[in-house]
Amino acid sequence: MSGDSNVEVPSDEVLASMGREELARLGAKLDGVELVEYGERYEPGSPADKHAERAVSRWFVLSALFGLAMIGIFIWWPAGYQPPGSDKQLMYALYTPLLGVTLGGAIACLGVGVIALAKKLAPHEVAVQQRHIGMSAEVDRRTLGAEVFDVVDKTNIKRRGMLKGTLGLAGGVIGLVAIVPVLGGFIKNPWAKGAKSDLWVTGWAPVAGKKVRMAQIDGTPVRPEDMAAGAIMTVFPGVPGGAKMSDSAVMLIRLRSDEKVKIRDGQQGWEFGDYYAYSKICTHVGCPTSLFEAQTGRILCPCHQSQFDVNDGCKPVFGPATRPLPQLPIALDEEGYFIAVSDFHEAVGPGFWENGKHPAWKASPKESS
Ligand code: FES
Repeated sequence: MSGDSNVEVPSDEVLASMGREELARLGAKLDGVELVEYGERYEPGSPADKHAERAVSRWFVLSALFGLAMIGIFIWWPAGYQPPGSDKQLMYALYTPLLGVTLGGAIACLGVGVIALAKKLAPHEVAVQQRHIGMSAEVDRRTLGAEVFDVVDKTNIKRRGMLKGTLGLAGGVIGLVAIVPVLGGFIKNPWAKGAKSDLWVTGWAPVAGKKVRMAQIDGTPVRPEDMAAGAIMTVFPGVPGGAKMSDSAVMLIRLRSDEKVKIRDGQQGWEFGDYYAYSKICTHVGCPTSLFEAQTGRILCPCHQSQFDVNDGCKPVFGPATRPLPQLPIALDEEGYFIAVSDFHEAVGPGFWENGKHPAWKASPKESS
């Protein structure tokens, strides 16, 4: 039912023969809307019209540039962790803010462009509208559709090549921006550095042939006498920035000397006396596991409750994790501090496709050190 019952509703044949503007005006009338002013803002093709089109297109171009910058930064920016004091630390610190600024810029410019399009190019209209209640009749739906398309016609988008092109460019780039976080990672080759690729190497790899000490979060190196039997301590590589190396956190555990311990095949000698070191990164999806229950010898991951048996090579005994926590081979250096004999010999954290394909991991730690 139309909003104004005093307006005569044309027959379907008459409706079919009406142009868009006529239908739009009819729709306005039926809704009790008086169009005081309605029509193009500028003479099509006039200097003012072209100026408005360029002004709107600039926003779309800007949006596309921001979007392309975000994609480029996501894929090519040197985003690997850099410790404080490193001359590349600024680049590392800028990565996330730049992603935010460029993505925000792309969306904001697209939004401003659409607003500018409505303000500068959409038909100029001054209308007074009467409201109605109830469902819309067929005639209302048709006239409303015609009104919308008439606005598009009067905006002259079809003949505005620059506007169509820049709007399409901005929309396309924003679409790409949405896809890049999902697919962008496939563009990078995570194995470009061969055996030194990031997924194979942690902060425990010897630095210039020197084995890495175990340190507390404040950098204090750790000696055996720092821990009582049944204690656990989270340690990090004793190198600059070691406490921030997210894949390198390790649980150093001192078992009681009367505890029976099963050692995984090939890992004999990786412990030092009653001291065992295991990755703190859960092999399920990477949460930090550090709830150690000395009574049962179990380590619990708080995220999904996986449990690992310290007395049995930290194999998972409950929960969704399927791989044992990787063990770090340890020893003491000449000054009596704990060191990692070598890096891990299996991937830390959650599984990934190439997990287990590193050739050097077939060697025992003592041989590879
Ligand atoms: S991340 Fe540890 S159980 Fe899921």
